[in-house]
Amino acid sequence: MELTDTILVTGGAGFIGSNFVLDWFQLASGTVVTLDKLTYAGNLNNLKSLKGESRHVFVQGDICDAELFGGLLASHRPRAVIHFAAESHVDRSIKEPGEFVRTNVQGTLNLLEKSRQYWAELNDDGRARFRFLHVSTDEVYGSLGASDAAFTERTPYAPNSPYAASKAGSDHLVRAYFHTYGLPVVTTNCSNNYGPFQFPEKLIPLVLLNALEGKPLPVYGDGMNVRDWLFVADHCAGIRCALEKGKPGETYNIGGRNERTNLEVVTTICDVLDELRPDAAIGPRRSLITYVTDRPGHDRRYAIDATKIQNELGWRPQTLFEQGIRQTVAWYLGNMDWVDDVRSGAYQAWLQVNYGGR
Ligand code: NAD
Ligand code: DAU
Repeated sequence: MELTDTILVTGGAGFIGSNFVLDWFQLASGTVVTLDKLTYAGNLNNLKSLKGESRHVFVQGDICDAELFGGLLASHRPRAVIHFAAESHVDRSIKEPGEFVRTNVQGTLNLLEKSRQYWAELNDDGRARFRFLHVSTDEVYGSLGASDAAFTERTPYAPNSPYAASKAGSDHLVRAYFHTYGLPVVTTNCSNNYGPFQFPEKLIPLVLLNALEGKPLPVYGDGMNVRDWLFVADHCAGIRCALEKGKPGETYNIGGRNERTNLEVVTTICDVLDELRPDAAIGPRRSLITYVTDRPGHDRRYAIDATKIQNELGWRPQTLFEQGIRQTVAWYLGNMDWVDDVRSGAYQAWLQVNYGGR
């Protein structure tokens, strides 16, 4: 069986997946098949600009549906699967871990097994070209102390939340499919992303929208936890790089060396909003910061050492944090229709579940 130039993207209606699909249409050729269940985090509006694009095929479905995924491989004969689909929010995994194991572990196993069967029936050229690109996270490495060296690809796994544990499980399965069956997999482990289309349950869009409306800005614990922030377009470029140049069986860490405490992130957003949307009734938005009960098991610090992907594949982040935050604030201000659409009843219910008792 021969391959086409098509790629199959799971989770392509979510935050990073939709940025990846949109960028792909600007930069690459071939058809994109997007498979997404459209959970609360998936949103077809993210892909609205592709309406009428004959090279885009959207399929609503679950990555745990083996028959559906096997059928998509057989009918589209993609040269790659780019696997973004996951339950992705740590706080939700603390409240309801089961769905994280089902989608992130069982779903990934399903994709690997069907991909293995598909790959085994390709001709020699197809077997050499096919890739299964697994998009994972730095959270699998656990938590760093203030003076610890950043995570490398050799850092032992030590996941601390049900989300991180489920992603670690999926990474191990991906690794095993290379070692046992030779399936040409590549895994990327990335740090915290921010940018357009991020669902406002995550820190940056949540704080941005609350600050815009003069609502309290909930900071967990002492606000001194550190994350390593990367603009989403830079992550997507890293994934394209790993897809085209990465070596099967290898993992690549992706991160921007933009370490910030949560408090620094929140105050930066406040200051940019005060400048772009001053509001006398609200006053300086820093005054909205409200310390709330910490996240259970809250990892103190993440930091990525991206030397391997930089040296071996030539990827470099392009966007400085302050510049990326400005772009992100401007995007949300210019897309309030999108915001109003995602802040539906289900979103309000989540705010009550997560913040009601804090
Ligand atoms: P997201 O929650 O915004 O999007 C996830 C997408 O997957 C949604 O469109 C959702 O509908 C879809 N999905 C969920 N369950 C599904 C299922 N069973 N079948 C099919 N589709 C399903 O997540 P995101 O932030 O875009 O993250 C994408 C990937 O990148 C995840 O694998 C995540 O672990 C990883 N990652 C995220 C970050 C980050 O900072 N957001 C950083 C590193 C890695
Ligand atoms: O590191 C990569 C990971 O980054 C991804 O794998 C996850 O999918 C993604 O959700 C993200 O996880 P975090 O838990 O780091 O992101 P979140 O935006 O939920 O929180 C960022 C930090 O801000 C974290 O230390 C918790 C804190 N926080 C978060 C929220 C939602 C607050 O202080 N207040 C909040 O209301």
